Amino acid sequence: MGDKENSWFWRDYWQQGQLACCLSDDLRAGYDGLLAETWADFFARLTDRASILDVCTGNGGAALLAAKAARNLGCSFDILGVDLALIDPAAHVKIDPDLIRAVRFEGGVDAAALPFEDGRFDAVTSQFGIEYAGLDHPALEAARVLKNGGRLRFVVHATKGIAEEGARHELTLVPTLGSARLHEALRRALKAVDSLNRGQGTRSEAESAVEQFIGEIEELDSKLKDHPNQATILTLGRRLLRLFEAMETAAIPDILREVDASERSVEAHLLRLEALAGAASTEEDITCAVGAMRVAGVDARYHALMDGPDMLAWVIEGLKR
Ligand SMILES: C[S@@+](CC[C@H](N)C(=O)[O-])C[C@H]1O[C@@H](n2cnc3c(N)ncnc32)[C@H](O)[C@@H]1O
Repeated sequence: MGDKENSWFWRDYWQQGQLACCLSDDLRAGYDGLLAETWADFFARLTDRASILDVCTGNGGAALLAAKAARNLGCSFDILGVDLALIDPAAHVKIDPDLIRAVRFEGGVDAAALPFEDGRFDAVTSQFGIEYAGLDHPALEAARVLKNGGRLRFVVHATKGIAEEGARHELTLVPTLGSARLHEALRRALKAVDSLNRGQGTRSEAESAVEQFIGEIEELDSKLKDHPNQATILTLGRRLLRLFEAMETAAIPDILREVDASERSVEAHLLRLEALAGAASTEEDITCAVGAMRVAGVDARYHALMDGPDMLAWVIEGLKR
């Protein structure tokens, strides 16, 4: 992923108000579990008034954990969350307003070219972030903007980790889904009914377009019927059916706008999954980044964060000499 224009699918996602992404809600080790505990341990090692930079912050998943840690520790941190996408968590995330106010957020900031002077922060963090920006460059940028004696911590997607495997699995379903065809069938059905209502089209044209749409939905249902996975993408058929049924109560031009939005959201979802699958790092990638940081003066090391038999992520931690 390169420039800000390429971040639209992240911006759209964060505008929905999600606090985090990448791990499905049903994972017990997700954002509220093990991950949050390990962040709390890290933040507890920082001193009162520490300045923290959270890069690739999204809606502030890790930055808000820093704010929570400060509250629990009875201290205050100066927390800045930055992301390449144009984020605005205060406008979209429904969470304790005091926590949101405890973090400043800035969009349009590339983790691989941080607009901060050397040695500015006591801590630099990233949760499922720097690997999306190429890993090595943002790791070196983090090392640069860290003060001597400062700490860094990155949680990074792992190849064969649960997030990457989930994303790859969902991506295999894309051809089965046929999102473009489904959306187009719904548009045709809506327009044909609209024409009929306005006395322009014929009843048989409308019936045939509706039948085709229902046929598409039934075909999708039968293909996915025995699918054990509850991937987001599998709910598309149900969502489109609801839009079709909305004809009873809403104006068709309004529904057509929602169909466009739905197609765009599927596209965005797939782009995020592809970005995740592409960002997942091998142990060799991690070793390289750690080596580069050591050369840059950070005593860095890494480990695998496991949840029982499942690998959640790589964790890189470091202290700048
Ligand atoms: C998987 S999300 C993680 C967000 C958040 N840290 C969390 O834990 O929920 C990855 C984020 O990286 C951001 N990103 C991707 N490339 C970036 C870059 N070059 N510089 C800064 N942010 C970037 C995306 O916009 C997205 O918000």
